[in-house]
Amino acid sequence: MGAQIEGRPVVVTGGGSGIGAALALEAANRGAGHVAVADVDLEAAGAVADSIVANGGSAAALRCDVTDTAGTEELAQAIAADHGVPGLVCANAGVMSALAPLLDTASSDVEWVVRVNILGTVNTLQSFGRLMAASSEQGWLMTTGSEHSVGVPHPNAGAYTASKHALLGLCDVLRAELPDHVGVSLVCPGLTSSLLWNSTRQRPDHLGGSADNDPGVGAFMEQMGMSAETVAQRAFDGLAEGHFLIPTHYHPRAYAEQRASDMAEAYDRLSKIDTADYDLNRTFAQFLEQLAD
Ligand SMILES: NC(=O)c1ccc[n+]([C@@H]2O[C@H](COP(=O)([O-])OP(=O)(O)OC[C@H]3O[C@@H](n4cnc5c(N)ncnc54)[C@H](O)[C@@H]3O)[C@@H](O)[C@H]2O)c1
Repeated sequence: MGAQIEGRPVVVTGGGSGIGAALALEAANRGAGHVAVADVDLEAAGAVADSIVANGGSAAALRCDVTDTAGTEELAQAIAADHGVPGLVCANAGVMSALAPLLDTASSDVEWVVRVNILGTVNTLQSFGRLMAASSEQGWLMTTGSEHSVGVPHPNAGAYTASKHALLGLCDVLRAELPDHVGVSLVCPGLTSSLLWNSTRQRPDHLGGSADNDPGVGAFMEQMGMSAETVAQRAFDGLAEGHFLIPTHYHPRAYAEQRASDMAEAYDRLSKIDTADYDLNRTFAQFLEQLAD
């Protein structure tokens, strides 16, 4: 069974623009009881919440910087107090630094991307995951990864590629750890028309400050990217069916297959010298059982 959002509160981080805004609007279209549009940019979040309310839905904008651990905790507590435990949380906020080869990327930019895309996602998943795990109601955590989560490398966006790859690992662990009534999904969009190309407009002062990027990249994303609305519809279709991985673009399949076949080949080579039957998860579970005895 997939995510059930009808009549339930839905939270979207980074909900003020692009994919997050489209997820918030789609949640309202699909009957969410309330949509909390959280974003570091309160004005942008307000415009999305206003548009949901204008269409007869219930929504509110909340300022939240996902890199602030106390901030995501406050957000989760406030939403639970005012609207109840969410049926769906979209850990969507993310940024990308200006395009540059990895060797030339400033470490402050790597830190910024890792802080927002990984730490911010962990903060969001922890704050809401704890609430959901402690509740008996069904809940769902959907993280916005990308095609880079499943094997498409993005030359000139090394830190971004690594951060999105990390989200696959995070979600994999989370789905093994959480109780059955809390679902986990990773939506993996490819190029989507949004303001991601100009994320540095919001880069904090201590990590380089605000700067505008090449508008040519924005024009390319606008022209070549899938619409955020289509991405959101595919994400919700996948959620309704309870899928863990929710790709929205087809072409990454070739990269994912290549990665899988490279791995199989690497292990086939190793099998010539080592075929030990050893499964870390099984062995570790036995170890924990022994400790408990
Ligand atoms: N656009 C693409 O091609 C694409 C493809 C795959 C995945 N994604 C992912 O989709 C997600 C949304 O990006 P988008 O393309 O809609 O970009 P966007 O820039 O249009 O929207 C991102 C939103 O996140 C907010 N945000 C940034 N830092 C934040 C923080 N610290 N705390 C809270 N909110 C913050 C921004 O204010 C903005 O409203 C990101 O995780 C991105 O990595 C984008």
